[in-house]
Amino acid sequence: MTDPKAPTGLRAGLATYGDAEFSLFLRRAFIKAMGYTDDALDRPIIGITNTFSDFNPCHGNVPELIVAAKRGVLLAGGMPMEFPTISIAESFSHPTSMFLRNLMALDTEEMIRAQPMDAVVLIAGCDKTLPAQLMGAASANIPTIVLPTGPMLVGHHQGEVLGACTDCRRLWGKFRAGEIDEAEIDILSGRLAPTKGTCMVMGTASTVACMVEALGMCLPGAASIPATHADRIRAAEASGAAAVRLAASGRKPSDIMTKAAFRNALTVLQAIGGSTNALIHFTAVAGRLGIKIDLDEFDRLGLEVPVLVDLKPSGDHYMEHFHWAGGMPVLLREIASHLDVSTLSVTGGTLADAIAGAETVRGQTVIRTAANPIAVGGGLAVLHGNLAPSGALIKRSAASETLMHHQGRAVVFDGLEDMANRLDSAELDVTADDVLVLRNAGPIGAPGMPEAGYIPIPRKLARQGVKDMVRISDARMSGTAFGTIVLHIAPESAAGGPLGLVRNGDLIKLDVTARRIDLLVSDAELADRRVAWVKPAPHPGSDRGYLRLYVEQVTQADSGCDFAFCVPASLDQS
Ligand code: FES
Repeated sequence: MTDPKAPTGLRAGLATYGDAEFSLFLRRAFIKAMGYTDDALDRPIIGITNTFSDFNPCHGNVPELIVAAKRGVLLAGGMPMEFPTISIAESFSHPTSMFLRNLMALDTEEMIRAQPMDAVVLIAGCDKTLPAQLMGAASANIPTIVLPTGPMLVGHHQGEVLGACTDCRRLWGKFRAGEIDEAEIDILSGRLAPTKGTCMVMGTASTVACMVEALGMCLPGAASIPATHADRIRAAEASGAAAVRLAASGRKPSDIMTKAAFRNALTVLQAIGGSTNALIHFTAVAGRLGIKIDLDEFDRLGLEVPVLVDLKPSGDHYMEHFHWAGGMPVLLREIASHLDVSTLSVTGGTLADAIAGAETVRGQTVIRTAANPIAVGGGLAVLHGNLAPSGALIKRSAASETLMHHQGRAVVFDGLEDMANRLDSAELDVTADDVLVLRNAGPIGAPGMPEAGYIPIPRKLARQGVKDMVRISDARMSGTAFGTIVLHIAPESAAGGPLGLVRNGDLIKLDVTARRIDLLVSDAELADRRVAWVKPAPHPGSDRGYLRLYVEQVTQADSGCDFAFCVPASLDQS
């Protein structure tokens, strides 16, 4: 809870001039240039982040949401103050949005801390933006409510329902295989993302929004309302009003995002067959609060909790269908026996209260019952083995059952450029039974751990009709992708991990049941190879600026890829 003696409103966080009363006088004098009255300025101040950007269509509705959130703040007796922070869009971030997530987290944290606000409404939605905001808010630790921007509506083409970006990848694969032509792929580029909002499959953005709701950091139902619906605007107004109440209560992120709340969020991650990326992001958010996410406990949750949500890429439907099936409150009700429903929410109530408000939607088939699951045995599985001493991840629910136990020859790509140059070559020595290996694509190696783990099927195999192969890397993959893909191998090869020791033709064994990924090479041979291993050359430009900070400080996937200096020295491992 907030210290009741701490200064509030305009008096909080004064600029340093050596005279606090002068600092307040100056602040008041300057802000009056905006036309505010003393009455307005004496009310609780609610900061509202503005992450609108012409480069970020996933945040295209942010201006309308801000207007509605401000209305909610005013109706509840507060004073809304909008302020900008960085915005990150997936396809407009070079080299990768993940490289910039920690920069946005630093920006959000410091802007919350630097400016006077009694609570803050965080509005975002694209993959890295909500995680970055939560990381920043966890560290700033003032009363905070999240308002996701919400998912897009589905697209349509030739009688087929389309969703970004699972269908972007599927249709691009068809184009590569010569099954659709240039004219059709051009038409499709206008139909895959038909409205503002976040990707409407259970990709990273939707996964994170659902987990935020399970954490208790947004209003019940707020994860899934489509971005363009009137209900989304009403949720914004309600979030603004809730922020005023939250400011009065003094309830901070550390009171809500407890170890039990993270466990609830990770349980939801398994039950929705969600994005692999979410595990990295929530490890980072928890780390900011001194909480260690135990990968093996997460794996055990997967064995207990069935996948119940029938959404692409694991299933058939899209976020708007999930919403009309009752959304998160209905899912939480279905998995309540796996949850700690006493955890607190930004509403002032508990998770049990959110579940009590769940609608019963007759005939819906999108959120299954535990008796009729989409899959059992875990949406995501954590692997160990001599290739991944600190762990790796596979999205079982989006992988091929026939490849869950597989042994094959390694076909190694030394980085993204090498893969781009050779993957589609007619000379590439590759068969459908081989294991494609991509390295130097991790947090330091790439840099920024791009979503390159979804290694395309080599063109000559794609043209023979091969749809899936075992693919392994130290990269991430989009939450919208599918396939038998082992990701987040830690430590990464550029940090000296054993992935860097694999050679073409080595045998690799994947055994998902045993949770193992192993290189079938003797320890003695690996020791020799380690002596001969040469660390990759530094990235151009890494001697200065943000790139230098990033490569010096970024942690590995199992630690959330946060900056080491942002995490408390000791984490609660209990
Ligand atoms: Fe922004 Fe998918 S690209 S959510």
